[in-house]
Amino acid sequence: MKTLICKVNAEKPEQDIISRAGGILKEGGLVAFPTETVYGLGGNALDAAASEKIYAAKGRPSDNPLIVHIARMEDLEKIVTEVPKKAKILAEACWPGPLTMILPKSEEVPYETTGGLDSVAVRYPSHPVAQALILAAGGYVAAPSANTSGRPSPTTAAHVQEDLTGAVDMILDGGQVGIGIESTIVDFTEEIPTVLRPGYISLEKLKELLGEVKMDKGLLRADASQRPKAPGMKYRHYAPKAELTIVEGSTEYVVAYINQKAKEASKRGRQIGIIGTEETLPYYSSGVVRCIGSRKKEEGIALHLYEVLRDFDQCEVEAIYSESFDTPKMGQAIMNRLLKAAGHRVVQAEKKINNR
Ligand code: TXA
Ligand code: MG
Repeated sequence: MKTLICKVNAEKPEQDIISRAGGILKEGGLVAFPTETVYGLGGNALDAAASEKIYAAKGRPSDNPLIVHIARMEDLEKIVTEVPKKAKILAEACWPGPLTMILPKSEEVPYETTGGLDSVAVRYPSHPVAQALILAAGGYVAAPSANTSGRPSPTTAAHVQEDLTGAVDMILDGGQVGIGIESTIVDFTEEIPTVLRPGYISLEKLKELLGEVKMDKGLLRADASQRPKAPGMKYRHYAPKAELTIVEGSTEYVVAYINQKAKEASKRGRQIGIIGTEETLPYYSSGVVRCIGSRKKEEGIALHLYEVLRDFDQCEVEAIYSESFDTPKMGQAIMNRLLKAAGHRVVQAEKKINNR
């Protein structure tokens, strides 16, 4: 398949380009497009065959449901059977934006789109290109992140091209996204709203709006053995090719631990990758060092996380070591992604140093 790549104005998308892309979706084709979180791989959500094409293009297991994107509040009604009061409150407060809600699905939504589930994930994105495309496509666009299954989500059109050239009809290039990690998912099919995936909208913010909110047990660090409720959260996602380890502890010990690993590797004529911050960069003496941003700007860390992980796939590194980023608001979301990329491999720097 030939993939058409089209630059599009992120603020004011050109109507002719959007019409063309919308036409492709209406005919059952696939279009990758920017959202405020990450790029999405879009198909018509109400067309079972289009959803099957999405799974095939991503190489994604078909039990992993897709998010249905809408671009008008009133379009929600058609695809769900019920909107609980708290879901309405949340929609009013956070839509359009980086929030996905799980609600009971109506008959309009094929099981191919929901991975066989009776619930449907719905999101109303704020990105102008996403909104224009969804409307041009008829109102309902199923879109997972536009990466091949298991790779970090794409935050630029170049990332999408790396993964999906030849597998989609069109890629809309609207530049770099704004947030860089996927939407917060809140499940409303249980009595107490439950976070299935942390994101830009924090647990604190949700509690402020809704009162009691639970975290899915499968997300808690101490509970890594629990199965997460969102089927997609059980896969080892976002994984770079080299094995990633998160190093925790005081900054001084973390840097010392990572420098030791770099030294050991260089003795073998090899190199490690290092994910550091503006604050620690001057202290790393060897290895392939990538700066993820400043500890003082957590939005920057979230925005650069996937890009940095992808970057290491282009380098000859035998392993990657990352600092830990338990930042105040987005820390939960950032660490959720980083821990998954690391397959939950975490070491404490203090112990290692003290034992030597
Ligand atoms: O920010 C985002 O949400 C991006 C952009 C493109 O909108 N999309 C995205 O989609 O991250 P995806 O497919 O990569 O992740 C969707 C997650 C998966 O973990 C999936 O298992 C979960 O949502 N999910 C979808 N429908 C669900 C349902 N009915 N019940 C539970 N989890 C569901
Ligand atoms: Mg994804």
